[in-house]
Amino acid sequence: MCGIVGYIGFRKAYPIVINGLQRLEYRGYDSAGIVLANGNAVNLYKTKGKVIDLKKIAEDNITEGNFALGHTRWATHGIPNNENSHPHKSNSGNLVIVHNGIIENYDSLKKELIQRGYTFQSETDTEVLVNLIEEVQSQNNCKLGKAVQLALTNVVGAYAIAVYDISKPNEFIVARLGSPIAIGIGENHEEFFVASDASPFIEFTKDAIYLDDEELAIIRLGREIKIRNINNDTVIEPTIQELKLNLEQIEKGGYDHFMLKEIHEQPHAISDTYRGRLLADKGIIKMGSVDNNITKFLNAKRIIIVACGTSWHAGLVAEYLFEDLARIPVEVEYASEFRYRNPIINKDDIVIAISQSGETADTLAAIKLAKSKGAFVFGVCNVVGSSIARETNSGAYTHAGPEIGVASTKAFTTQITVLTLIALKLGNLKGELSNSMFHSYLHKLNLIPDKIENLLKINAKIEKIAAIYKDAPNCLYLGRGYNFPVALEGALKLKEISYIHAEGYPAAEMKHGPIALIDKSMPVVVIATKKGHYDKVVSNIQEIKSRNGKIIAVVTEGDIIVKDLADHVIEIPETEEAFTPLLTTIPLQLLSYHIAVMRGCNVDQPRNLAKSVTVE
Ligand code: F6R
Repeated sequence: MCGIVGYIGFRKAYPIVINGLQRLEYRGYDSAGIVLANGNAVNLYKTKGKVIDLKKIAEDNITEGNFALGHTRWATHGIPNNENSHPHKSNSGNLVIVHNGIIENYDSLKKELIQRGYTFQSETDTEVLVNLIEEVQSQNNCKLGKAVQLALTNVVGAYAIAVYDISKPNEFIVARLGSPIAIGIGENHEEFFVASDASPFIEFTKDAIYLDDEELAIIRLGREIKIRNINNDTVIEPTIQELKLNLEQIEKGGYDHFMLKEIHEQPHAISDTYRGRLLADKGIIKMGSVDNNITKFLNAKRIIIVACGTSWHAGLVAEYLFEDLARIPVEVEYASEFRYRNPIINKDDIVIAISQSGETADTLAAIKLAKSKGAFVFGVCNVVGSSIARETNSGAYTHAGPEIGVASTKAFTTQITVLTLIALKLGNLKGELSNSMFHSYLHKLNLIPDKIENLLKINAKIEKIAAIYKDAPNCLYLGRGYNFPVALEGALKLKEISYIHAEGYPAAEMKHGPIALIDKSMPVVVIATKKGHYDKVVSNIQEIKSRNGKIIAVVTEGDIIVKDLADHVIEIPETEEAFTPLLTTIPLQLLSYHIAVMRGCNVDQPRNLAKSVTVE
């Protein structure tokens, strides 16, 4: 979704904001723009396309000044073109705005403004907002901060905004409802940064404020930041957080793409997920957020999991984990359906919300709904301090580190790791897993990072398989039990980054429809691990073979039966069936990656997709 970067201070603003926009490219966007101010001279450049296109335009012109506000736009209202790109100016030309989110009542606001003589250059809701602010300011003869606050009380929707008055070059106003915004604070308040996340400014300052919903900040050079609640006008004491992020974590580190880097980071990321939690030698799982709410977890009659996309697939794996290991019934819901379905939530239910970004609008709305019905909501998030992390009653971070590639990879496996830890812990405490079984599980889970490290050595082999199937128009993914969600995830990964149509199915469902698609041009990826209903999956493989389908099988090391049947065999190391999704996922991620690269696709920023889906 849209990205915002702003700078005010003593440095040249242009390189900071342009580099910052490039760091936010992972969020997904289709146009970009920047406004620069150097005293009274103001320059505004906007273009459809990428930040690189914006750079060409700006660098042929003037890029001077200690103030800049930049934006990457993911189109909602109006097609991606130069006019609809941000920043937008007000009719007087004095106010400039960048906006992430949607103003739902923009149409009625626009009509009122047109009646008052305002004109519009773009189709965007954002241009309506900046003119509304201007109108409020002239009606009330007030300062910009007050005008933004009053205007926002008339707005329905979601936003993170930064607004700048050209005649007041030392300040800007930022506000948030539903979309994230971080403020970086330089030494002695001599410079400030604003951005959709902290990555654009981590080399300049480690001190940051994350605005909460309904908060507005007035940022003035040389002064303390002032924060107010937009609706009730109370003054809020800023909470300054120390950023733990470093530059290395958000760079490619020698890999061609972030996605490939993040696939390879999984052994390390999973170790980080269970560091201090999985104490295999002591036979303990220590998780403060679960321990502090243990009665609720142990008494839960049902767990409802809400999430979207890949996180929803992690939720499906968790359904198998919680039911199998802890004998707690689980329902997994698309957050977008749950939030509009008037769901039944009982007092002994626990709702678990899973989200990498912690900003997904539907998941956030599902959480708010569940809380309003009295549920205890537990979050599994990657981004520290994100909206979902703050909105949930309690939760566990995945500690995967920044995930920049739009397609989730390490986020998925680390989410599963957190959920596995919880399921094992509850299984043991509920007496469903004896101590000896529990200890054996812990030791095997502890070995997973090393097993992934070894598994990643098959990269070259997968690249060869990818070369054979890169032009396939369709692809089918099949799995059973714990690996059914992995089949769904494998198909999602392929379609989202290579644009090949792919479907995932429980292997046995093939007979009920998809089998009609199978012929010699159809690659079928089948996950056939040793303990996962192996014989049944082997029968499915035979059915595919007898219809001349091309079989790429993911099997347990040492398998001989499937080797004879499949066109290609990818071996994963032996482990507990419950942990196989952490391994079987890896070759499927690599397969999608290589196919997408060979097809010339933009792997890290697939078309039409956004990393953080802050609109519904
Ligand atoms: C797919 C992918 C998306 C996200 C989904 C939810 O690779 O990344 O399907 O999983 O948009 O995002 P989060 O996990 O941030 O809530």
